[in-house]
Amino acid sequence: MFSNRVPAQLAPNRLAQALRAHRAAGRPLIDLTESNPTRAGFDYPSDLLTPLADPRALRYDPHPSGSLHARTAVAAEYERHGLSIAPGRIVLTASTSDAYSMLFKLLADAGDEILVPRPSYPLFDHLTRLDLVVPRPYDLDYHGAWTIDLAGVERALTPRTRAVLLVSPNNPTGSFVSPAELDRLAALCAPRDVAIIADEVFADYELEEGSAADAGRVSARRDVLSFALGGLSKSIGLPQVKLGWIALAGPDGLVESALERLDVICDTYLAVATPVQAAAADLLARGAAVRHQIAARVTSNYRHLRSAAASVPVCTVLRSAGGWYAVLQVPSLESEEDLAMALLETERVLVHPGYFFDFPRESFLIVSLLPASGLFADGIARILRRFRSA
Ligand SMILES: Cc1ncc(COP(=O)(O)O)c(C=O)c1O
Repeated sequence: MFSNRVPAQLAPNRLAQALRAHRAAGRPLIDLTESNPTRAGFDYPSDLLTPLADPRALRYDPHPSGSLHARTAVAAEYERHGLSIAPGRIVLTASTSDAYSMLFKLLADAGDEILVPRPSYPLFDHLTRLDLVVPRPYDLDYHGAWTIDLAGVERALTPRTRAVLLVSPNNPTGSFVSPAELDRLAALCAPRDVAIIADEVFADYELEEGSAADAGRVSARRDVLSFALGGLSKSIGLPQVKLGWIALAGPDGLVESALERLDVICDTYLAVATPVQAAAADLLARGAAVRHQIAARVTSNYRHLRSAAASVPVCTVLRSAGGWYAVLQVPSLESEEDLAMALLETERVLVHPGYFFDFPRESFLIVSLLPASGLFADGIARILRRFRSA
């Protein structure tokens, strides 16, 4: 009865089952996979969401790409990063996931291909499959820093490739795309009519000073049709408010054609609620206080992780330039899954194994940098003690 867009196998994996049992038994747990900022002990002002009650939202006056007021507020966010984008080139969405779906509908027919980074965000499997497009991986390589395997991108391009997807900074590697990499990607994509989709949801969070300012940004490009994605979910830690956006750039004619077609797609769904559009400017201004707390937390947790791991020679923290995650390389004494299970059962710490993010080999553990600092330090100490005598 059901389509193949949804995987046939829905049973939780071994780690998820063990976690369920652990929680059902009421056992304590340090969750180093926590990626929901609203559960990480930040001080959200209690009146932060009052702009959502703005009476202007009592009137329903839909516009396919969102209200000009809200799009102007988003354009001002780009100004903060020194990028000038006309509000007319911004399209509002209900989330970044919603933005992906809109863009896959815009660019791809069933069976067309999208190049996706590996390792990266596991949701791409579902996002592509639900829109009947085929994800083709290209590698990010680590050699003291992460770089894109550009020769691999070139090899992966086929006549069915419709877009190359970048995540900058990437989840979980923390790597920003460099201006030189972006130039090379644009040179590969533009002549083949392949677009670039750059997920920049973590662009506000740098773990190395200057890394955000030094990154390549698609919004400045005029040579290749590009879409930058952002949203309140990460920029001010409000995933539940449901507001994302797409900023278009590229050759003027292509941008205009893409905007006309996005209008048709967005007009069909009109997914973005009026209250959040009326509130967008206010929320973005007030939310800066949350962003600053998150930025301070992830930076200090990342520093702590590096200094704690430095005392355990067999463990290495891979260099991460931005975002909310860090990657810890550990000895492959057992499979990643067995290790994650053992950490859960004996140390009462939850981490993600690297295979979850499609790391090409073992053993890597991915930790969220969001948890409160004391909890984070305790969790890291429990992981490291397993390897002290290795
Ligand atoms: C790379 C990346 N993009 C997008 C999202 C989700 O954003 P949204 O809540 O706007 O769909 C996440 C969430 O973790 C993410 O890691």
